[in-house]
Amino acid sequence: MNRYTHKILDHLPSVPEHFLHEAQILAQTQPEDRQKNTTLNSYNPTFKTRVLTINGQQTPTARAKRFIVSKDFQEWIQNNIAADFVEASVSITESQRDGVATAIHGAHTDWSRTFVLMYVMDTGGAQCETVFYQEHDQPIWRTDLGCFVTDYSRLTEIDSVTIPLATWYSIDSTVLHGVRNIERDRVAIHVGLQGSDQSIIKSTVSHV
Ligand SMILES: [Fe+2]
Repeated sequence: MNRYTHKILDHLPSVPEHFLHEAQILAQTQPEDRQKNTTLNSYNPTFKTRVLTINGQQTPTARAKRFIVSKDFQEWIQNNIAADFVEASVSITESQRDGVATAIHGAHTDWSRTFVLMYVMDTGGAQCETVFYQEHDQPIWRTDLGCFVTDYSRLTEIDSVTIPLATWYSIDSTVLHGVRNIERDRVAIHVGLQGSDQSIIKSTVSHV
């Protein structure tokens, strides 16, 4: 299998409007209610207080939270996007932490999945990018899930992508990755896969 950092999956169908509406409502969960409604995979406690050092400057990392979608939505994903997944959720990458702007989500590998299929509903800003890194003396594709690098002088940028709205992308989340230029909360549907990405639906069935 050829390995990648990100891959467009433009053969996969658009998310039906009523599920987008459901996702939008989840994304509008008020900040004070977010903690109690988030999934087990949100808020990795070791991630949330990290401070990044970039070009000698310190900056707090943005935080991402995920909210599980309904059974009906999960069934649609299973039949149209990926037959087997560990979690289907709406993810919000927050543009503020305690009133302080957080424009950068720090470099990490995901801790609960090895691939994530993303369908962006709000890009978080025109310049918002997903960036991939290699840490010095480490392989590009890591086996240590849930690792986080705060000292950016240890990183080499190897790839970046501005994921467009309403298009399925696959991200290999074992590659160190982060987001930069976050201007407002970034909202995306996430479908997490474990192990391989072979359950991605290869061809579309006919859609009326
Ligand atoms: Fe991630």
